[in-house]
Amino acid sequence: MKILITGCNGQLGNEMQLLEKENPQHTYFNTDVAELDITSQEAVEAFVSENQIDGIVNCAAYTAVDKAEDNQELCHLLNAVAPGYLAEAVGKRGGWMIQISTDYVFDGTNHTPYVETDPVCPNSVYGSTKLDGENAVTAACEQSMIIRTAWLYSTFGNNFVKTMIRLGKEKPELGVIFDQIGTPTYARDLAVAIFAAINQGVKPGLYHFSNEGVISWYDFTKAIHRIAGITTCHVRPLHTEEYPTPAARPHYSVLDKTKIKQTYGLEIPYWEESLSECVNKLLS
Ligand SMILES: NC(=O)c1ccc[n+]([C@@H]2O[C@H](COP(=O)([O-])OP(=O)(O)OC[C@H]3O[C@@H](n4cnc5c(N)ncnc54)[C@H](OP(=O)(O)O)[C@@H]3O)[C@@H](O)[C@H]2O)c1
Repeated sequence: MKILITGCNGQLGNEMQLLEKENPQHTYFNTDVAELDITSQEAVEAFVSENQIDGIVNCAAYTAVDKAEDNQELCHLLNAVAPGYLAEAVGKRGGWMIQISTDYVFDGTNHTPYVETDPVCPNSVYGSTKLDGENAVTAACEQSMIIRTAWLYSTFGNNFVKTMIRLGKEKPELGVIFDQIGTPTYARDLAVAIFAAINQGVKPGLYHFSNEGVISWYDFTKAIHRIAGITTCHVRPLHTEEYPTPAARPHYSVLDKTKIKQTYGLEIPYWEESLSECVNKLLS
C-alpha cells in the first residue's frame, strides 16, 4: 500500500518512521508541514491523488493545549478542519484513514475507565477541536479509525518525561499535580498498535489506546526520577488549584483499551516498562 504519514517531525510521526523499517512491504510518504501543509485542501487533494495514496495516518495536530485557548482559529483549522480534508481526499479513492485523537474529549468526571461509547464533553479548546476532527474524519471517509490516546511521550519532541528529567536535574524541589489521574502512552507502543491495524486491515470505528495501569502526574514524575537515577530533587504533590493552567484538564481520563486489544490481538505494555525503555534510550 501507498501510505501517507503526516506530522512526521512530531513524537508519533518519528516513531512511525522508525517502525516503517520493520514494515518494508508498504511505500511511505513521510511528510510534515514543509512537504504537505494539511490545512491546504488543494495541496492535500493534489498530494493524495498524484501519489495514489491508499491510506493516511494523521499524526499532525495542534498539540499546545494551553496556547490553544488563545489560538482557537488555528487550533480549529489544524485539529478539526484539516483532518476532514485528508479523510475526504483518501475516502474518494476508497482508501482508509487513521486519525489520532485524545482523552481530552472527556470531561473527566468518570470513576471507571472510559470506553468508546461513553458520552464526550470536552472542556478545553484543544479537546473540542479534536472532537470535531473525529467527526469530520468519520463523516468523510468510510474506512476510518479514530484512536484516542493520552499523555503521549517519546524520545522525540518535547514532552512531560523530558521536562521532568531536566527539571529534576536543575531544581532541588518540584511540585507536581497528584489529583489528575490517567495513563501515559509511549508513542512507540502506539505506533506498534497503528501498524497492527494497518497490517491486519483498518476496521472502522472509535478505539482507545494508552499503556496499561493507572497513575497521577505526581506518581509519573516520581517514577521518571527513580528510573533516571535523579535523587537530588524532592517532588511535592500539588492540588490542581495550586497549579492553574489556561486550559482545564480532566481529573480522571483513564482509557479502557479492551476494544483495540481484542480487535487486533494486542498485548499492551505496562506504563512503567515502557517508561523505563524510553528513559534508558534518552540517557544512553
Ligand atoms: N502529546 C500528547 O500528550 C497527546 C495526548 C493525546 C493525544 N495526542 C494526539 O496524538 C497525535 C500525535 O501527537 P504528538 O505529540 O506526536 O504531536 P506533535 O509532537 O506536536 O507533532 C505534531 C506535528 O504536526 C506538525 N504540524 C503542525 N502544523 C502542521 C500542518 N499544517 N501540516 C502538517 N503538519 C503540521 C507539527 O509541526 P510543528 O512542530 O512545526 O508545528 C509537528 O511536527 C496528535 O493527534 C495529538 O492530538 C497527543
